[in-house]
Amino acid sequence: MDNYQKIIESIYADVKNIEDSGKVANYIPELGNVSPDNFGINITTIDKKSFSIGDFDKKFSIQSISKILTLTMAYKLQGETLWERVDVEPSGNPFNSLLQLEADLGKPRNPFINAGAIVVCDVLMSHLKNPKEDFLMFCKEISNNPHLKYNNKVAQSEKITGFRNIALCNFIKSFGNIKNNIDQVLDFYFYTCSLEMSCQELSQIFLFLADDHFTTQKGDRVLSMSQAKRINAILLTCGFYDESGEFAFRVGLPGKSGVGGGIVAIHPDEYCITVWSPKLNKKGNSYKAMLFLEQFTTQTASSIF
Ligand code: DON
Repeated sequence: MDNYQKIIESIYADVKNIEDSGKVANYIPELGNVSPDNFGINITTIDKKSFSIGDFDKKFSIQSISKILTLTMAYKLQGETLWERVDVEPSGNPFNSLLQLEADLGKPRNPFINAGAIVVCDVLMSHLKNPKEDFLMFCKEISNNPHLKYNNKVAQSEKITGFRNIALCNFIKSFGNIKNNIDQVLDFYFYTCSLEMSCQELSQIFLFLADDHFTTQKGDRVLSMSQAKRINAILLTCGFYDESGEFAFRVGLPGKSGVGGGIVAIHPDEYCITVWSPKLNKKGNSYKAMLFLEQFTTQTASSIF
């Protein structure tokens, strides 16, 4: 669609000045230093056309959006037995909740809540020699982007305040569903969350979920078609924690949020869209990014439904 640029410019102008009572995440102190006024959008279509506005080129902390990337790599390495370690059901609970784990005997409800992503990091650690380096290399390869980096300050900042994740990891270990050293698993998890990307880089890295025929620069597929379908299905049902129903209801696309204020959404066979606005609503999802996406899929009549 050639008028994507016009549409995003017009929605950007409408949404930019809307009163936003949300708050920038500061439970990871380093994230609190980001200006709340950042607002950027990028759409990249499967035929590689790119449309952008605002702060689309500024790097930010992708936080939980990285859970798609760790899941993709673990699924590739571990195959279907991955689902013996982590389930695929919506949790209906906040992203950092400990509540269901006891009844579920340490098997997290899905890979997009913190508990699930920590187990996924543990699975990766069992496969990789140098988890941080190997994971970063994987991200560079699937995006053909050599400029990706962790933000050391953000990772360290989360490490010293990550009490809930430390509790989650210990609790899951007590059920035997963490196989590696707890400190090393958490260190790896915090680094994956600290990855920095711009809206444009995020839309590009997730094209493999939108394009059935996607291959890397080397000509390799990232996932099989059926595996990509499964990841999109989990994104639709679990990508926004206890607001996943609301996101599907208002936006109608599989997607994932992060507490850095980014949201990526995927329209299979068409495009990836990323919106960044750091102020979060009460459920930990960017208020303006959600609003933008709702207006975008409404005005373009382009949801999956
Ligand atoms: O583990 C955490 O709490 C953060 N590193 C990531 C949480 C997050 O992004 C939740 N997303 N909305």
